[in-house]
Amino acid sequence: MNHQTRVYNDIFEMLPSEENPSPMVRINRMSPSPDFELHAKLEWLNPFGSVKDRAAWAMLREMEEKGEVGHGRGLVEPTSGNTGISLAAMAKARGYHIRAVVPNKVPLEKKVLLKIAGAELDVVNDALCPAPGLGDGSINIAKSHAKAQAKKYAMPNQYENEQNVLAHMRTTGPEIWRQTEGKVTHLFVSLGTCGTVSGTSRFLKGKNSSIKVIAVQPTEGHDVPGLRNVSQLGVSKLFEVEYKLAYARAMELCQTEGLLAGPSSGLIYEGAREIILRDKKGFGVMIFPDNIFKYTSNMMKHIPGLATGNEA
Ligand SMILES: Cc1ncc(COP(=O)(O)O)c(C=O)c1O
Repeated sequence: MNHQTRVYNDIFEMLPSEENPSPMVRINRMSPSPDFELHAKLEWLNPFGSVKDRAAWAMLREMEEKGEVGHGRGLVEPTSGNTGISLAAMAKARGYHIRAVVPNKVPLEKKVLLKIAGAELDVVNDALCPAPGLGDGSINIAKSHAKAQAKKYAMPNQYENEQNVLAHMRTTGPEIWRQTEGKVTHLFVSLGTCGTVSGTSRFLKGKNSSIKVIAVQPTEGHDVPGLRNVSQLGVSKLFEVEYKLAYARAMELCQTEGLLAGPSSGLIYEGAREIILRDKKGFGVMIFPDNIFKYTSNMMKHIPGLATGNEA
């Protein structure tokens, strides 16, 4: 493996690490304050297309080390898309089968991508992001498959697997510390399983306890795939942003910065913008989870004009 020439023996060698960090790009035309340097960390440039490559790889590697997969045993996982896409591609490259339990509201693009990546799909009636504890939620359905067919399925379970947090402590946190040369003052993230926020902030706060970690969450009744808000998480004091702005800001990032950012990145940008207008000075890093390509149908719903003028 050679990160200089970018020639690799297999796709796994491309996964992000301190030696091979995902890129950080400065925000220019949409910079909210000249005294606040703001960067986006582009997780869609990971080999399977999102921030979830990190957790998926850490979980799969541990399962392989423990001998929990292989010899006819594959994976079953509840997912709102990105974890499933990463896991499916990795599992298939290793020769394992995979079943993804997906909430119905997940964008069509993600469902089709899961199938293209090789997952068998179980679409269930559930919230946009699977919610632990719900009787018929996708988490419990995946658990029941893993229990009833233990020889066929092992379940990584991103919602309860410590590797989801450790992945970010080992990679995302150290990458940001090194890429900013320790200058980072603000970290802006979103919340799904909370693996990103927990692992990255645990590492960075260990280096400098005064770093501010801002978790941006969408308003009630939101439609931002991959994310949860306060009521869905059962926590409070997080930063709330009108969810439709996720789409408007994603569009603006695409058309102003050349950053083809997805809706959760748009939401994170809006949260960062509001905090920067308040704090004025600093060095911020936003973790942009994935790009816009999986969300064209959501964008058509929320951005006027995209759904029309597409026919002769
Ligand atoms: C598009 C998108 N944004 C943000 C997140 C949040 O990441 P995490 O699960 O690490 O909290 C996810 C994860 O599921 C996601 O798919």
